[in-house]
This record gives sequence, C-alpha cells and structure tokens, in this order.
Amino acid sequence: MAATWEELVKQIKERLDIVDVVSQTVALKKRGNNYWGLCPFHKDKNPSFTVTPSMGIYKCFSCGEAGDAISFIMKTKNQEFREVIEDYAERFGLELPPHSHSKAHESKEVKQQLLKVTEIAAMFYNDLLLRQKADNAETALKYLTKRGIGTDIIKKFHLGIAPKSFTTLYDELRKDFSNVILEQAGLILKSEKGGYIDRFRNRVIIPIQNENGQFVAFGARALESDQNPKYLNSSDSVIYNKSKILYGLNYAKDAIKEEDGAILMEGYFDVISSQAHGIENCVASCGTSLTTDHVKLLSRYTKSRRIYLSFDTDSAGQKATARGAQIIKEVFQGLGDIKQFDESYIPTSSDKYSCEIRVICPPEGKDPDEFVRSVGADAYKEYVKNAPLFIDFQINSILKTKDEYKTPQEKAKFISKIVPVLSEIKNNIIRSEYTDMVAQTLGIESSVLQTELKNFERANIFQVERIIKNVTKNDTILQKAQKNLLSVFLVPDSRLTFAQISEMIGDVQFDDEILNIVKSTIDKSIYTVNNVKELIAFLYTEFVENPQAQSVLPELVQMAEAYQGLEEQDFANVISETIAKIKKCRHDKEVEQIRKVYKRIDDDDPEALKIQIQLRDKIRNKIKKSEMN
Ligand code: CTP
Ligand code: MN
Repeated sequence: MAATWEELVKQIKERLDIVDVVSQTVALKKRGNNYWGLCPFHKDKNPSFTVTPSMGIYKCFSCGEAGDAISFIMKTKNQEFREVIEDYAERFGLELPPHSHSKAHESKEVKQQLLKVTEIAAMFYNDLLLRQKADNAETALKYLTKRGIGTDIIKKFHLGIAPKSFTTLYDELRKDFSNVILEQAGLILKSEKGGYIDRFRNRVIIPIQNENGQFVAFGARALESDQNPKYLNSSDSVIYNKSKILYGLNYAKDAIKEEDGAILMEGYFDVISSQAHGIENCVASCGTSLTTDHVKLLSRYTKSRRIYLSFDTDSAGQKATARGAQIIKEVFQGLGDIKQFDESYIPTSSDKYSCEIRVICPPEGKDPDEFVRSVGADAYKEYVKNAPLFIDFQINSILKTKDEYKTPQEKAKFISKIVPVLSEIKNNIIRSEYTDMVAQTLGIESSVLQTELKNFERANIFQVERIIKNVTKNDTILQKAQKNLLSVFLVPDSRLTFAQISEMIGDVQFDDEILNIVKSTIDKSIYTVNNVKELIAFLYTEFVENPQAQSVLPELVQMAEAYQGLEEQDFANVISETIAKIKKCRHDKEVEQIRKVYKRIDDDDPEALKIQIQLRDKIRNKIKKSEMN
C-alpha cells in the first residue's frame, strides 16, 4: 500500500506509459524518437500531434495542446486529477493510502449532496408558500399577486417563502443533512449563541437554477419595506458561481436559440414577469454586474450573438448599459466587426459580425418587470423589434442632452463627449453621414467636427502606440528572457546538475507571478527528482489546479530544445547571458519610468529644477549600471 497520496501518484506515473495511454485514443506512428498522429483536440488533417516517450509528454504543433500522460487522460476523459489516480490505482492493483481515501469521490459526493439539499430546500419553501403553511405565506401571496404573479408562475419558477422563525428550514433538514453541508449550501448560519439559524427569514425565495435546471442557489427578496438588504443572495459555493450563472437561462435557452437573440435584464423579477408574459428569451445576472463569463455562456445559444441590453432607464441603469456593452465587446473583439449599422438594402449573412449589441430603452422609463405589467408585453416586443444598435443608442442619448450645452465652452465640452463615440464607427460612409447629422443638430460646420474627430484619432493612435511600445515590447523581451532562464532546467542532456543550475541563477527575481511560481516549484523539487523527465512530470502534477502555470510548461520544453547538445561551458554561458539580459531589460524599464516622471514635471514649479536634476542623476546612474552588467 502506498503510504501517502504523493507516493501513490508517483507509483502510477512510473507505471503509465505515455505511448500506451495516447494510443488508446490516437493512432500513432513512430518516426525517429517520437510518435506522430492526428491531434484529438482539434480537427487535424495532417498529423501534427507528437508524443515524446523519453520525456513522457505529448504536444500538438498545430493547436498547442500539450501535457503528460495524466493530463491527456484528464482532458480526453474529462476526469479530475484525483479520479484519474483512483482509476489507475485500481487498474494497477495499488491500494489507496489510508485517510486520503478517495477525495475525488468525496468532493463528487459533496457536490451531489449540495445539489440535493438545495433542491429539497427550494421545494420546501415552495410548499410553504403554495399550501400556506408559513405564518407569512398569506402576506407573501398577496405581495406576489400585487406584482402580477399567480400560482402558475410560482410553480414554474418554484418561488417560495422563508418564514419569520429562526430555524424552520434547519429543523426540517438537520435530520438528513450534516451542518457542514447545510452551511456549505448557504442555508444556515452559525448563531451568536452557538448553534445554527436559517439564513433566509421572512423573504420571498427565488431559487436559482443553472442552465441544466439544477437548483444551485437562492435569491431572496425582503417582504417588508424596512427589511435590509432588499435582496439577499447565496454566496458562491462548490455548485454556484455567480459570475458564471444567468438567472432564467434554463427556461430561456430554447427561445434564445429560436429567436437568435438574448435579452439581458437586471433583476430576477424582470425575468420572471417577462417570461410569464411570453417574452421568453430573457435572462439576468444574479445580484452582480455582467461578466465576460456570462457573455460567453449566452453566446453558446445565439448564433448571430445578438444581445439586447434591457436595463433600468435611470442613470445607474445607463451606466450598466455602457458597461455591459463594453464587456460584450471585450468577449468578441478579434472575432470580427461589431455590427454598427442596419443595412436595409444590403443583404448580409448573419455571421458577418462578431456580435450585435442592441438596447431596449422605452421612454416610459420603467424596468422590464413594470413595463410588461403596466404597458404590456406586445408594446415591449415592439421595442425589441425596433431596438437601436448600441452605437445609435449612445449617439442619441448624447444628442438628447445637447440643450444643456449653450455657450461656446459648453459646446466644446459636448463635442469632446460625442467625438469618441463617432470615432468608433468603422464604416467611412456611415461615419461621415453621422458626423454631418451631429454637426447639423448642433448648428456647427461639419468640417469643424471632422477636424476634431481627426485630432482625437491622431492623439489616440499615438497613445496606443506609446502604450504598446512601453509595455508590450519591453515586457516581451523581458518575459522571453525569463522563460529562457527557466527552460535551462528542462534541457534533457544538460551537462550541469539541477543544483548547479540553481546556484548559477541565484536569486534572480521574475516579474511575472506565474513564472515565479514555476521557479519556486522547480527549486522545491530539484533535490528529489532524478532527471528532466521526472521534473516535467512533477511540474505537471503540481500545477494540476493551476492551468496558467501548466500552460507555460510546453513553451519551456520547446525552448529547452534549443539548448540541447551544448558543451558545459557553452551551456553555462547561455545561463549567464540570459541573466544579464534580464537585468538589462529591467534597468531599461526603470529608466523609462523615471524619464516619464521627468517629462511630467512642470517647468514653472520652483522645486522643478531641483527634482529634475535629481532625476537626471538617477537616470545616468541607472544607465551606467546597466552598461556594466
Ligand atoms: N440586487 C441585489 N441586492 C440588492 C439590490 C438588488 O442583489 N440589495 C440585485 C437583484 O438581483 C435584483 C437586481 O439587483 O433582482 C435588480 O435590483 P433593483 O433594480 O433594485 O430591483 P428590482 O429588480 O426592480 O426589484 P423589485 O422590483 O423587487 O423592487
Ligand atoms: Mn423592479
């Protein structure tokens, strides 16, 4: 029996043969020291997938996937690290070490229990409401009726009521579930007196389901107006990640596909009311602002990635709209143009654009929930049909405020607000049309606005170029040098021992947090591993829960190939040259920063001269120092 989990992992790694493992999925052919086949991770026409048995790793030269035997199994079988180890322990007839008994199994079981208890709690609250078994059920039903929510909707969304008392749910569930599970599910809290109390009290319960309909969390709305906060939400847990879940998606996903568009709203009740009134393709984030993960999740269901933002019309809602549009753009940037104009006569295929952002903003100024109830679903659908593109919405909202800007100074301020928006329009014809229109509305010459636009763009390009020059260029050289330095540990036939290399590198610091982690993990292992193959295997295992660190490894292995076959002295030279390069890059960067400060100093300031002289000395010293290195 393996005494420890680590020992078991080691034993399994020794027994696993990368060629055997990969061969179960990929037909491999031997060529030289490597094996080649079609990559299982992307549509591969020519073999670009290699297995290097001497190092125990695989890599695809086309899509870049890479790893060791265990990560191959994890990826192809969609298993967790622990599951793989347990599986293979059984296959190889190895017993699990005592205590560590099946943590993967345990965590799977915990997940199952959390899902189960959340569903049971939802049903319990729902039952208290529907059968009026709670002291406040009647009040809640009245409240919901006032909001236009009847029994059908209560049943569909499994709405419930949490009673006023402190332990109703706890008393119900403690028979079947441990305190640990109930606490992890966010259903109970430790009370000050010791013992536990229910987390949700005297609130309408809105169960949150994931896209597959599993119950994962709760939103809970205050029943009384003096209750704070208005909404109490479950915290994140093993089964619930707010930034990755959209409320209502389990009901909305078919409609989103069918209509090829999704409406993003702000509140639970916006979604509930809208769906109840036949507007089915709507979802909301759960008590957090929109994240890129939300957008990615949505984009799986709409082919043309048409997303409507239907937020409140107040200023907070408008800020959320701008922010939401920004997040959406971020996700789709690089995939093509964002739709910026409606072609009524130019036929286009819907996949021409990376995404299409529209805004639903009825002038009545209500949130979607109030709007569909007071004005009606048909009117809302009309607004959906005619929803302007985000860019049009932006220009119109700015134009609407134009009367507030009267003096020439104020007009200049107004122009500085609209110019950045106009400059975003990619199509030249459309842009000049818009520029003319805006100029006309303002009562200024179109050429004036065009000049402003050009100036803005020029300044912007310079700024972007400066940023790229300062950050990217320097950083990539520095980063590459740092990776080079780490890769020397992974050279298979190196004439230097790990300890020798480590001593040469000394305490060179890395700017990148990930590289620092890789370095310290290597340091930790160099006295326990016997060769490069073992070191690589060790690193893959250590980083099993740190995909960012893991993704650096194939790059390092590839870099290390360049140093293969070097004599000891040449190899040592490579190391010291790389260290020198890193130090020089870092000095250059610091000098650059001081220069920036130097430039920013105001000449009129009486202290300026003194500071400038100091800075100049500092720059000189820095340069001298970096030349010495
Ligand atoms: N929200 C929250 N916590 C709060 C207030 C709001 O988590 N204290 C979240 C909820 O998800 C809520 C959404 O923000 O659904 C929108 O909040 P708000 O506009 O204040 O509420 P409405 O949806 O209009 O709520 P109601 O109609 O119930 O008053
Ligand atoms: Mn509301």
